[in-house]
Amino acid sequence: MISLYACRGSSISPYPSVNLPRSFKSSQQRFTVRLEGPNRISACLGLEREAAGSAGKSEKSGLGATSKEMMELEGKVVVQTYARVPLVLVRGKGCKVFDAEGKEYLDMGAGIAVNSLGHGDPDLLKAIEEQATTLIHVSNVYYSIPQVELGKRLVKSSFADRVFFSNSGTEANEAAIKFSRKFQRFYWPDVKLPAMEFIAFTNSFHGRTMGSLALTSKKNYRSPFEPVMPGVTFIEYGNIEIAKNAIQPGKTAAVFVEPVQGEGGIYCATKEFLQALRSACDDAGALLIFDEVQCGMGRSGYLWAHEAYGVFPDIMTLAKPLAGGLPIGVVLTTERVAAAISFGDHGSTFAGGPLICHAALAVLDKIQKPEFLASVCKKGQYLKELLVHKLGGNPHVKEVRGLGLLVGIELDVSASALVDACRNSGLLILTAGKGNVVRLAPPLVISEPELEQASDILSNCMPSLDGNT
Ligand SMILES: Cc1ncc(COP(=O)(O)O)c(C=O)c1O
Repeated sequence: MISLYACRGSSISPYPSVNLPRSFKSSQQRFTVRLEGPNRISACLGLEREAAGSAGKSEKSGLGATSKEMMELEGKVVVQTYARVPLVLVRGKGCKVFDAEGKEYLDMGAGIAVNSLGHGDPDLLKAIEEQATTLIHVSNVYYSIPQVELGKRLVKSSFADRVFFSNSGTEANEAAIKFSRKFQRFYWPDVKLPAMEFIAFTNSFHGRTMGSLALTSKKNYRSPFEPVMPGVTFIEYGNIEIAKNAIQPGKTAAVFVEPVQGEGGIYCATKEFLQALRSACDDAGALLIFDEVQCGMGRSGYLWAHEAYGVFPDIMTLAKPLAGGLPIGVVLTTERVAAAISFGDHGSTFAGGPLICHAALAVLDKIQKPEFLASVCKKGQYLKELLVHKLGGNPHVKEVRGLGLLVGIELDVSASALVDACRNSGLLILTAGKGNVVRLAPPLVISEPELEQASDILSNCMPSLDGNT
């Protein structure tokens, strides 16, 4: 198991030497920021948390003919599940993407925390080309070398003994749901109704298929499709006492938790919370499942975000960045869990195909390097400092938080006007939470000057929030 990287330490703070209160002056107020680790990386502006905001508006002005044509056609032929921003992207290079009219944008979203190596990484392209010309797909009827190699590497690099491949984050979680139920049946064969229920948390996001959706906290994602999988209890993220009471022997099959919540608004768990979940699961015979689909694979500055906490799961799910933009999902599991799974219990036609796995090996090769992970820690810290310095004095900014290069800026209003203004100024950013959190999840290869450029544009665009609710 590889668990020590440049961010190691008894505290989860990557930089004890910079773990000092820092004072920044802004035109409007003076405030202090403490950089203390994932549970406390925040700019303390002394403001109350408050929900706000509506989703982003789209406007079609300023678009070229190709973009307009593509958007209109999309409106006719694609099922309208996405409220897209009015931007047609055609090309990418490094941390930049280009629209159909050739305008350049700095990409601080990385395809929703996917393109960790940026766009057009030469080693990733080489791996894809190599494998595409050798063998793309065989199905899981046969063995294939890249799948076995990737499995071996993931096992070697983590707590896990075995892996199961899928095609996306939601599918990885779906498999983890099935594995949890099978685990309970396998180890309690004489119990008529073994533990079959799940615990998930407020602000959680685990996917859109029926099982993962049932674990996703936003009610309006679930309600149009009910009944979803029954037996899920949602508990306040971080509330140790309620969690301890809720995790019950004979009832709870598994607890699903994101060590750093992404879609829900960039909330970092505390070490005590994850430790309490670990021991409550052990006492109850329940499985602890870390969903690292968004925060895993280097984004936190650790290869796996849970390494920052020193708490280990029975199952971890991964997806987004693992194959550099090609679709992949993985369930990593201990032998104890894997022993409960038999031939035919689960499967997928595409999963773990040679092309995807060979690409993922190239991504893992780069991200796993201690110096790469150290650079993510350093740049994440720098980004937070820049944001606090440049935006901290703005009355709309309530908090800057996050771990590594997954950073949230909580606002007291909807972020949509800021997203639009930044896009018009050549910067792509995401939102999270109730639309009031700016989410920054840039390619992990981003440079410090690019981080400065992003924070300058954000700072210049802050007036767009004035007068918004
Ligand atoms: C933590 C987490 N889990 C699961 C998912 C679902 O992944 P996918 O969209 O690949 O199905 C996401 C997607 O944003 C996620 O952030």
